[in-house]
Amino acid sequence: MTALKDELMTIKEASAWASNLIGKEVTPANISYLVQYGRIKKIGDNGSAQVSERDLLTYYNIYNLSRENNFKERLGNDLNWALSFDQCKEAETTKHVHLLHPYKGKFIPQLVEYFLDNHIDKFKTETFFKKGVIVLDPFSGSGTTLIQACELGMNAVGIDVSAFNTLIGNCKVGKYDFADIKIEITRITKSLEDFIKHSNVIEFETNLLQELNLFNNQYFPVPDYKYRLAQGEIDEKRYGAEKEKMFLPVYEKLVNQYNIKLKQDKTEFNNYKIAA
Ligand SMILES: C[S@@+](CC[C@H](N)C(=O)[O-])C[C@H]1O[C@@H](n2cnc3c(N)ncnc32)[C@H](O)[C@@H]1O
Repeated sequence: MTALKDELMTIKEASAWASNLIGKEVTPANISYLVQYGRIKKIGDNGSAQVSERDLLTYYNIYNLSRENNFKERLGNDLNWALSFDQCKEAETTKHVHLLHPYKGKFIPQLVEYFLDNHIDKFKTETFFKKGVIVLDPFSGSGTTLIQACELGMNAVGIDVSAFNTLIGNCKVGKYDFADIKIEITRITKSLEDFIKHSNVIEFETNLLQELNLFNNQYFPVPDYKYRLAQGEIDEKRYGAEKEKMFLPVYEKLVNQYNIKLKQDKTEFNNYKIAA
């Protein structure tokens, strides 16, 4: 087997090259994102940054095959590629309430719609749900299935072992009185403004950010750190714990200098009424 000759490309060239490879638009911003997150290595500096074709190929893991063919080769030709929703943009897969809170384990809404709605195709030859039925999702996560069921005029019940996930789900399916929300937002904003006016928090945070910036540039330089992480050169847990220990004294010094109270008194907290 002959080794692949490695070509270097600018970010712009890489975006055109990758678009051509995977058959959908890859913007220069997408390539920069891969560099920032250490998926591919940046060669040279900002003015003339380049990336390597070999890195891109490894990332897209495709070589001469399209993603669809690649998956079909591994899983069989009867794969329903439409269910990959490969062509969907992130804005579509996180439409309306689905981006209220990031949650990695959620279904994408298009997948749920596919099974709940009343269309049929080569793979889905009958329909199972109609308006007015009750959909039970016993592993409801952040509630994608519940929302999509409601959107299609169905009722939905969800259960999840994680209290946090049920909180996100409930926020997404809840019915809200917008006038009430506006009053509540105004109240919270005013309380925050009052709090900030009477505290050193802003100065503390500005200084903390400056210190963090220096520290991160030294110990977590972007994108080198992410790249070394992706290559398995750094044990993230151990390195992180070590650096946390190093930074803690800087943090404590600033907390003391600006007289920052890390825990609110019970009585202060009690002043805020929690809306029922
Ligand atoms: C992939 S997510 C579900 C996605 C969800 N169906 C949707 O529409 O977005 C799987 C969920 O199952 C939950 N889970 C795992 N084990 C469980 C159990 N024994 N009982 C209830 N929920 C469970 C997890 O907390 C997680 O939120």
